[in-house]
Amino acid sequence: MKLNINGEEADLPAVWWNSEQKMVQLIDQTKLPFLISIHSCSTYREVVEAIMSMKIRGAPSIGATAAYGLAQAINEFWGKPDYLEKVQVAYNDLLSSRPTAVDLKNGLDFVKDIWSVSPEEAIVYAQKFAQNIAMQGKEIGEVGKSLIRENMNILTHCHTGALALVDHGSALAPLVTSWEEGIRFHVYVDETRPRMQGRLTSWELSQYGVDHTVICDSASGHLMSSGKVDLVILGADRVVRNGDIANKVGTHNLAVIANHYSIPFYSAFPDTTFDLNTPTGAEIVIEERNPQEIYEVRGFSKTMNKQTCISVYQDNTRCYNPAFDVTPAELLSGYITPHGILTKEELLRVYSN
Ligand code: MRU
Repeated sequence: MKLNINGEEADLPAVWWNSEQKMVQLIDQTKLPFLISIHSCSTYREVVEAIMSMKIRGAPSIGATAAYGLAQAINEFWGKPDYLEKVQVAYNDLLSSRPTAVDLKNGLDFVKDIWSVSPEEAIVYAQKFAQNIAMQGKEIGEVGKSLIRENMNILTHCHTGALALVDHGSALAPLVTSWEEGIRFHVYVDETRPRMQGRLTSWELSQYGVDHTVICDSASGHLMSSGKVDLVILGADRVVRNGDIANKVGTHNLAVIANHYSIPFYSAFPDTTFDLNTPTGAEIVIEERNPQEIYEVRGFSKTMNKQTCISVYQDNTRCYNPAFDVTPAELLSGYITPHGILTKEELLRVYSN
């Protein structure tokens, strides 16, 4: 992804393997947009912590990070007594770090397939998994750009750029690709309470100079009803056999309103987000996160000149914090995949082969 670090141009993925230091390294998303900071994980346990604390987030990036974490565990335990038991514990710890995104399981299973072969091969497999996701982001950009036209107003939710997809992005990829080809449009970025992933989207769009405005999540109905949104495009954390999608909480609300006003509504994702084993959205486990994320808000204090956290409710206020919701397939206009823009019938056909 294109980064501007203190005026210097850089190009980094969201997560990578540092072969010299034998570490998983990632751009710490909890520090953005205020600070670009690289976080290093020396053990799979540190990878579990990085995923749980959202230093890395976005379904495909989580999958790639988990794949690297398992490869690290294979390297740590290789040749030790009870090797298979130990790597199975690592697999389980990584798998339970976040339950909704299927990419996580897909990344782990990809590396698990060769965990009896060699530790070196485990690293190669994890790298292949991550590189394939990044490549599919580029393909999604090429496929999805056909939906983007001059002067459009496009609404997006959560974060779906390179940070979420190792590189290039899911829903942001068609936007960035079109912008780089000279198409001019405007993006409304949902703030995405409580973790404010909109900050990441706004930051990523700024890296490419894409014209955008951040809105509170609750403003989207007003914008759609007043003809200010031509297209809604967002990502997915799990897409199941019948075409239902789990995505960041608030996606379902957007889909209902978009449908009411006949605004096209698309989800973009790579192959690792498709879950052939789950029949409908009703079976998807929705992650419930700590309510503290609602009553405490993290930000940058100009007076203290550092990042800080403040309470916006009294400590004993009851809050409920489901991190995702399920949007039924009938509310989607189509699915932007590396294999084309698909209908729900085409989706199952493509992913069953
Ligand atoms: O909780 P997060 O920040 O990991 O949630 C991210 C999302 O829900 C994204 O919209 C999703 O991963 C799809 S885009 C790659």
